[in-house]
Amino acid sequence: MQRSVSSPASISGNLSVPGDKSISHRSLILNSVARGDALVTGLSSGEDVMSTMGCLQAMGVEIEPGVEPGTVIVHGTERGLQEPDGILDAGNAGTSMRLLSGLLAGQPFTSVLTGDASLRSRPMGRIVQPLKQMGAQIMARKDDTLAPLTIRGGSLRGIEYTMPVASAQLKSCIMLAGLSAEGDTILHQPALSRDHTERMVSAMGGTVISDGLTLVVQPSQLNAVDIAIPGDISSAAFWLVAGLCHPQARVLVRGVGLNPSRTGILEALEAMGAGDALQLVDQRDEGGEPVADLLVTSTQLSGTEIEGDLIPRILDEIPILAVAACFAQGDTVIRDAGELRVKESDRIATTVSELTRLGASIEEREDGMVIHGTGGLKGGGCESHLDHRLAMALGVAGLLAEGETTINGAEDASISYPDFWEHLDLLSGE
Ligand code: S3P
Repeated sequence: MQRSVSSPASISGNLSVPGDKSISHRSLILNSVARGDALVTGLSSGEDVMSTMGCLQAMGVEIEPGVEPGTVIVHGTERGLQEPDGILDAGNAGTSMRLLSGLLAGQPFTSVLTGDASLRSRPMGRIVQPLKQMGAQIMARKDDTLAPLTIRGGSLRGIEYTMPVASAQLKSCIMLAGLSAEGDTILHQPALSRDHTERMVSAMGGTVISDGLTLVVQPSQLNAVDIAIPGDISSAAFWLVAGLCHPQARVLVRGVGLNPSRTGILEALEAMGAGDALQLVDQRDEGGEPVADLLVTSTQLSGTEIEGDLIPRILDEIPILAVAACFAQGDTVIRDAGELRVKESDRIATTVSELTRLGASIEEREDGMVIHGTGGLKGGGCESHLDHRLAMALGVAGLLAEGETTINGAEDASISYPDFWEHLDLLSGE
């Protein structure tokens, strides 16, 4: 699908973004192997979460739609998943493939997991190696590094493992395996990444002890818990940048999750001088996660440096931050972000190539990019590269650029945000 976007005279409105994608995956996966039933509200309707749901249903988990949209009841199997009689398809979702692999490593049957072309090119050796050390039998393409994966699960033993990358998917994969292993599993992380698994496992009665960058997971049987999922800050980020960078804007995004392991985008926008133009309204706690409404108005941003421990907490927001940097005064330097090269697309290369097509002054670096703020972009043709976050970042670029921007592959937004283009029209007054 192709979408054309031009800059409207003003951007204004109130909206709610989809439920947090990371929490949505975990609410389905963890409740599936828990004891009892759980009511999940605010579930993301994005295709990634539907992939997780489809895989779990293929293993005999009953997930019933609730009365309200975004509501489901998960009937826990108390670890008793059934061997699927077909191949499990994780679609585009790294989270589905990596978390489900950790779960399947402890199940006494054989399963095969595949995904789309993007997912089949993303690194899986990082999960295969530790799961094998725990005792799972796994085979994968290209010397055990690429999906499809064949997993013969069974009895696992806890390991002590130093993670080579600060990845929440890798951490959660090993934690899920650790829950059904014999003995403790000890993880050493290079930096903190999102901690939704730790929070949810603890809320379900499992034992996870965190001490700085070290995590200890003890074998535990989980109890189902109801989960109210907050709005996804990674989706809200598009409207924060649209509102801050458009000269006539006021946007309120309601009910956004502000888990500290996810708020790197707010810190970066603050460092760029957002000040009072970005406000947290009605801060509260919902379902064990901090939540607020986010209000943005027009302002002039300036360049900043994004690096080090901030990177895992802002990883998914870098394409949209790069758009903001194009409208800022001065240079924005992003470094230590080599992980972006193995996301749904090589996000360093694709962000640089597509924003260059829109007139950005931007240089590619091995582990990041340098964006010279020129105060604007020029409409033109660009591509999503099968990457939902890039499609949406380019949509926002279109809202801010001079002239018309045409995005090829606009449909990719539905991986995490099916209503993205409708919301863009709503804020543009169309
Ligand atoms: C996710 C973790 C992140 C993020 C992804 C979702 C998760 O990846 O990019 O969109 O739900 O665990 P990492 O594994 O690189 O942290």
